[in-house]
Amino acid sequence: MTTTREARALLRAHYPISAPKIRAYNAARLSVLPVPWVLSLLDDLEGTVLCLGCGYGTLETVMAATHPKLEFAASDFNERRIAVARSTVRGLPNISFSTADATQELPDESYDNVFLSDLLHHLPAGEQEPLLQRLWQVVRPGGALVMKDLDVRPRWKCWWNHLHDRVVAGPPLTYLPASSYHAMLTRLGARVQVAVPRTRLPYAHYALIAVKPADGAAGG
Ligand SMILES: C[S@@+](CC[C@H](N)C(=O)[O-])C[C@H]1O[C@@H](n2cnc3c(N)ncnc32)[C@H](O)[C@@H]1O
Repeated sequence: MTTTREARALLRAHYPISAPKIRAYNAARLSVLPVPWVLSLLDDLEGTVLCLGCGYGTLETVMAATHPKLEFAASDFNERRIAVARSTVRGLPNISFSTADATQELPDESYDNVFLSDLLHHLPAGEQEPLLQRLWQVVRPGGALVMKDLDVRPRWKCWWNHLHDRVVAGPPLTYLPASSYHAMLTRLGARVQVAVPRTRLPYAHYALIAVKPADGAAGG
């Protein structure tokens, strides 16, 4: 399992950014995540991974470094963040960056897997399920949609998450419990596994791993 210290070293090696603000953002991003746990969510995946809402690609760069057999296509609707990632990330032939609004356009081609890290709570209420429905069509049978987000319990963590996101990102902010996403993904025909990290961080991290049946019989 990759330690947080190792992840930081990989980020320094593959994301040599000199702009102080982005360096600070990258360092802060890794410090609010239980990094070994997030990276372990990818361990059973094979093939291609579509990552939406990658931001500067901080986490996604570390993912590409720790999982060299996976091929990542990462996108965000923030053109400036994608420009920074494109011009900075190096030494990782298994990741590419592009600009895309997850709510407007999805790729025509299919992917073995989809990974969403802290995208869904940045969408307006009501957009989460339609997006998951459209993304489910993009996942190949036998692949998985992995989503990591923030829960509404315990309440104090939810308030802290909200305060953090108000300062760092602003609205819209839509936190939904793991059980809501579990129900949405089950309706699509996924076999869903819930993962919650053991962490002292004041963030209510959770992830769902939604596997699409190999025969595609129960796909939405
Ligand atoms: C908290 S950051 C997550 C970045 C990265 N995935 C990670 O976990 O480190 C959320 C990102 O979602 C992006 N985002 C929000 N709405 C989006 C949309 N409709 N389409 C694409 N990206 C979006 C924001 O620009 C921001 O970079």
